[in-house]
Amino acid sequence: MGESIDPQLYFYLTIAQRAARQAGVLIKAMLDTAKSFEKSSKDLVTDADIAAQKLIRSILASKFPEHAFVGEEEDAAKSLRGFNDRMCWVVDPIDGTANYVHQLPNFAVSIALVRNKVPLVGVIYDPMADEMFCAVQGDDATLNDIRIQSSDCTELSQALVAASFPPNVARGDVEIDQFVNVLVNAQSVRRLGSAALNLCFVACGRLDAYWAGVVRPWDVAAGVLIAKQAGAVLTARNGGPFDLDEANLAVASTQQLHSKLMIELT
Ligand code: IPD
Ligand code: CA
Ligand code: CA
Repeated sequence: MGESIDPQLYFYLTIAQRAARQAGVLIKAMLDTAKSFEKSSKDLVTDADIAAQKLIRSILASKFPEHAFVGEEEDAAKSLRGFNDRMCWVVDPIDGTANYVHQLPNFAVSIALVRNKVPLVGVIYDPMADEMFCAVQGDDATLNDIRIQSSDCTELSQALVAASFPPNVARGDVEIDQFVNVLVNAQSVRRLGSAALNLCFVACGRLDAYWAGVVRPWDVAAGVLIAKQAGAVLTARNGGPFDLDEANLAVASTQQLHSKLMIELT
């Protein structure tokens, strides 16, 4: 990899890394004092989420005023629809806010640059572990500048698999049936609380597979690129083409494992 990639993408990457690191430092500093609120039942936001998104937005806007911005918090656009081939930053200032509120150290800043719903640059920064996952379309995915690859796992019985649930999952939802199907067939199942980090963990081989029924573009825009550039196989949860604006997904380290996961999810 690494041939015929627009060099400008590496400049975008550098600025996204700077924004993610500065936001990560900010949210880590606010960990003990951040105030949380319920946006809706069981769906949390903190003043650290809002401060971090403001910081990221101002860094990106100062360098790229012509680019669009989609973010989870405040008055940012919530959908990629209509931006088409305009460059658009897709930002989750804290992915894993429930973990953050409970001081459980599994949350991250996620920043992607997207055009035509295709992520071109992805950066995910975990400030507690000081781990920076990055990818540019067409080039290797990295963790703290070292190349990463997904695992060679081909069997569900050997696979450590993560799942994401929406904030208000209910008894009887299809999500529960899928969870049980995978639970009885996989080596083990985890719900770690950050979709962005789950994708990074598949990318670097800590997890072998991951699926999510209901996520939003900012949860996964950077992570899908990082996972794909690390060699993972990623589709929509039903096995069809992944659509960033629908943003349900199933990802596995190998094609064989992905096929076996799909049997349990469909
Ligand atoms: C959440 C996390 C979680 C997923 C939820 C998301 P947030 O993002 O990614 O893993 O299950 O659907 O909302 O709210 O912590 O940014
Ligand atoms: Ca999120
Ligand atoms: Ca968030």
